[in-house]
Amino acid sequence: MTRLRRHRTLSAAQKARELHPQELIRVGGWERYFEAPGNLWLEIGTGKDTHIIERSRKFPESYHVGIEVTRKKFEMILRKADALLSEHGTTSDNLRFLNADAFQAVDACFAENSLAGAFILFPDPWPKKRHAGRRLLQKSFLQLVAGKLSPGAILEIRTDDPIYAVQARDALNEIPILNPLTDNGSWVHEPMNPEDHVETLFESKFRKRGLKIHHFYLSKVEE
Ligand SMILES: C[S@@+](CC[C@H](N)C(=O)[O-])C[C@H]1O[C@@H](n2cnc3c(N)ncnc32)[C@H](O)[C@@H]1O
Repeated sequence: MTRLRRHRTLSAAQKARELHPQELIRVGGWERYFEAPGNLWLEIGTGKDTHIIERSRKFPESYHVGIEVTRKKFEMILRKADALLSEHGTTSDNLRFLNADAFQAVDACFAENSLAGAFILFPDPWPKKRHAGRRLLQKSFLQLVAGKLSPGAILEIRTDDPIYAVQARDALNEIPILNPLTDNGSWVHEPMNPEDHVETLFESKFRKRGLKIHHFYLSKVEE
């Protein structure tokens, strides 16, 4: 009981990584929020996975923002960020998380042409037709994300689900401002740059089950 109660409360350091959209709006956007210039990377649907935390350590000169809609997973990722970054003695203050629904937050919080890159890693496929509106890998949402990427920025998508991969490919084919970087114009089953690749929790689970991963790499057209 005591343990449960203690875990429900976030420490000041953990809370400090939570970003409230009103705060962003108040200061006038990301560049003012972080004060020093730098590239901004976004991950949509982090769950409790550490991919973005690892990237924030690997690229300390860039800024990294994760969006997660579920409060419980969001608080877990705040705790993990604090624990992992303290363990490694990380000093750069370049990582924030938004507890929000990406369908609203991406548009409200990021200016057009402002992101150096975005990740959507193992989004829920929502296979039932009546839930189709919740799929992140649909044209309207991918188009919204594409608009937020700066010219030349990368969108990386991963899914284990072959049906969702086909839906994603078809939606991406209808977005002319995104160019596939893969030779076949759709997905590949291995990471394009293994040295930069950070495996996620879901990815490791699926790989151990022998499932094929579909990796998409796209770049926003240069103007
Ligand atoms: C299957 S999990 C994958 C987590 C992690 N990316 C990984 O690969 O291990 C998908 C996550 O996306 C989150 N999610 C789904 N829809 C979302 C939305 N509209 N906005 C923000 N997060 C969302 C879910 O709550 C869940 O944590």
